[in-house]
This record gives sequence, structure tokens and C-alpha cells, in this order.
Amino acid sequence: MASSSDASAAAAKKLEGKVALITGGASGIGECTARLFVQHGASVVVADIQDEAGARLCAELGEAASSYIRCDVTSEPDVAAAVDHAVARFGKLDIMFNNAGIGGAACHSIRESTKEDFERVLSVNLVGPFLGTKHAARVMVPAGRGGCIIGTSSLASAMGGVASHAYTCAKRALVGLTENAAAELGRHGIRVNCVSPAAAATPLATGYVGLDGEAFELVMESLANLKGVGLRVKDIAAAVLFLASDDARYVSGHNLLIDGGISVSTPAFGIFKD
Ligand SMILES: NC(=O)c1ccc[n+]([C@@H]2O[C@H](COP(=O)([O-])OP(=O)(O)OC[C@H]3O[C@@H](n4cnc5c(N)ncnc54)[C@H](O)[C@@H]3O)[C@@H](O)[C@H]2O)c1
Repeated sequence: MASSSDASAAAAKKLEGKVALITGGASGIGECTARLFVQHGASVVVADIQDEAGARLCAELGEAASSYIRCDVTSEPDVAAAVDHAVARFGKLDIMFNNAGIGGAACHSIRESTKEDFERVLSVNLVGPFLGTKHAARVMVPAGRGGCIIGTSSLASAMGGVASHAYTCAKRALVGLTENAAAELGRHGIRVNCVSPAAAATPLATGYVGLDGEAFELVMESLANLKGVGLRVKDIAAAVLFLASDDARYVSGHNLLIDGGISVSTPAFGIFKD
């Protein structure tokens, strides 16, 4: 007989029977989300260009629950093949997490920014999610079971001055894509949302800022609005899980800021005493 703790563990599984595809799933936010999704009963396809890390993660998650596929999100045939792989391997696609991204050059001068870097960042961070959304919809719409598409945008979608011009443009445009796709796909029961984290120590973020993990977290915590807690990748994965699950069944077209309130704060408030 199942114990009450077994029953509550099963009830707490928010993605039982769901199939998810996570781009950029071999590292950072994508990796943490893949682990959390599997804990919650989902089967996960990890799509990335880091073959070793992706294969290692899937070996750990288990063959029954996960599968790695090489996929460069800037390539339409790669993205189409990753979506088809999810359907062939696990029978369907319920959740598409368009998460792969690059920081691009850490250049904050418009005069020194290059067209090459601008186009490269837009290609991975915007064209990638466009292709992911397109091909997820290609299989979700005819399946008629609804679905959920989530993108990883950024605090840069809501504030100027926190990243390069290229990165900011890509992440803001991703919010536009999210809203437009939500408007189109709602009639098919498909929800489209994005998350917009502040800074969490991942290879992308620490490489961009040029600080190692601990030093990075100390600097970010000193700049944060919300004190006493630092943003970690698990906080972002938890927000993605929320959007992917039935807990968010009426949430669509939303950009969920995970920024401790910094995008709606001004340091000027500090002049008022408690
Ligand atoms: N870490 C942060 O502070 C932060 C904040 C806001 C938004 N983001 C966004 O989160 C997402 C995930 O980044 P992360 O911070 O976990 O960094 P990360 O470097 O740990 O992960 C990014 C993953 O994307 C993969 N990737 C890069 N280019 C790719 C391509 N062309 N095709 C397929 N995969 C590709 C990388 O191999 C890597 O596994 C990105 O979109 C990033 O812009 C990160």
C-alpha cells in the first residue's frame, strides 16, 4: 500500500506524463530546469551544442526520462529535427523551453559595438526562439492538446543599461515574440510566456562580467534591490516550472521578471528612512 508521503510526493509532481524540449539544456538555467522537470515527472529532450555536457546530463537523468540531441538554435533544420526527435522518442511535445543564449561581446559602447556581434547575438537569442516557437507550434497545433512555450528573456527586457545593445535588443524583441505568439496560439490552447531573470552565476553570466561564481554573486547581491537572498539558477527553474505547469494554466503572454523588484525600483527611495 502506498504511504501518505508517497501519495503527497506523487501529487507534488507537476509535470507527470509531460514531454519537454529544452534548448541550451546542457548548462546553467537549462540544465537546472531539465533536472527539475524530470523530478516532476516530465520526459526531457536536452538540445544544445555542448555534446559532452548534454550527453553526461542525460546519462545522469536516465535514458527513460531524457535524451540529448545536438541542435544549433540558429539552424532551422536543427531546430525542426530536435522537435521531431522529441515526438519520435517520447510521442509528443507539451513544453518547449527556448532557453539557449549567448552573452555576446561585453561591449557597452554603441560606438564600439560591431555589426557582427549584433547579428550573432540576435541570431542565437532571437532567431533561435523564433524557430523554436515556430516548430513547437508545427507539432502542437495539429496534435490538438494545447501546449506551453517559454522563452528565457532577461532583466534587460525591462531596463536599459544592464547589458550590451545587442543583448538588450534581442531580449526585448523576445518579449514581443512571446506576446505575438500568445495572441496567435491562444485559440489552440497553447500558452506562450517568458521569464526575465536578473543575474545568476552561470558560464554565460560570469564570462560576460569577467568574475568567478562567488565574486559574481557578491557583486550582484550588492547591486540588488532585494536583500538577504541571492538569485540562483534554481529560482529561475522554479519560475519556469510554474509557467510550464497547470499552476499557470491561465497565464499567457506574460513576461515574468525574476529580479527581486529591481526593475521597478529606484535607488532614490533610499533617501527615505524606515
Ligand atoms: N545567467 C544569467 O544571469 C541570465 C540572466 C538573464 C537571462 N539569461 C538567459 O538565460 C539563458 C541561459 O543562459 P545561462 O545563463 O544558463 O548560460 P549558460 O552558458 O550556462 O547556458 C547557455 C546554454 O546555451 C547553449 N547555447 C549557446 N548557443 C547555442 C546555440 N547556437 N544553439 C544551441 N545551444 C546554444 C550553450 O551551449 C549553453 O549550454 C540565455 O538565454 C541567457 O541569455 C541568463
